[in-house]
Amino acid sequence: MATILMALAEKKVPSKYEWVINFLTLGRRVKIYKHIRKKYLQENQLLLDAGCGTGRFVEIADASWVSSLGIDISEHMLQQAKMRFRGRKHHPPLIQSSITALPVRAESFDIVICTFVLSELILQQVQDSLKEFYTSLKKDGLLLLVTESKPESKMKHIFFNCIRIPAFLVAKIFARIPKHPIYDMKALLKAHPGAILEQKSYLGEHLTLFVYEKTS
Ligand SMILES: C[S@@+](CC[C@H](N)C(=O)[O-])C[C@H]1O[C@@H](n2cnc3c(N)ncnc32)[C@H](O)[C@@H]1O
Repeated sequence: MATILMALAEKKVPSKYEWVINFLTLGRRVKIYKHIRKKYLQENQLLLDAGCGTGRFVEIADASWVSSLGIDISEHMLQQAKMRFRGRKHHPPLIQSSITALPVRAESFDIVICTFVLSELILQQVQDSLKEFYTSLKKDGLLLLVTESKPESKMKHIFFNCIRIPAFLVAKIFARIPKHPIYDMKALLKAHPGAILEQKSYLGEHLTLFVYEKTS
């Protein structure tokens, strides 16, 4: 549900995106970012934020002395990200590109992070993106994904659909945004050699953080 409305905000009002996403995730987005910063970021790492949007995570990584590159397909979202860093001494590179064909060297990043993006893509694009993430990661590098997920409990699932279906209708009518799929990330990640180090659920299992370590 949240992903649908987020996409609506990105497309119609990128300047309000921060407010909308923080509201829709009931502040969990920042909580997830802080968890990631504390547990996984270390000084001098090279990090790629794939689908960086307005650059909030790049800003957090930057403050932790991590060198980041932000990539996003949307010029408008990147403009918001650039405004975030305007006037600062250090301005992390922000590049417009699709994450399905990354303009980066193989095995160059310690961390690739992709938050709230994959539900906006069709299956082939998700598979292409995962392949790109793996190629760009160093051996033992970490892939961190935060994406919408389907709760295992039936009750939570019913509640989830009660909210998701009206949200889908709103998005379809006002922004012609197609229904967003929920992918079985565990199954998709199996196509690449590695191991899940952490799987953590938020918002009644509607959001999941996957931390995957590349092993070859
Ligand atoms: C919901 S926003 C998430 C932004 C950010 N990662 C965050 O956590 O707030 C989704 C972002 O994915 C970007 N996006 C969608 N498809 C993309 C693609 N194929 N390549 C790169 N970025 C893409 C959108 O432009 C948007 O900025």
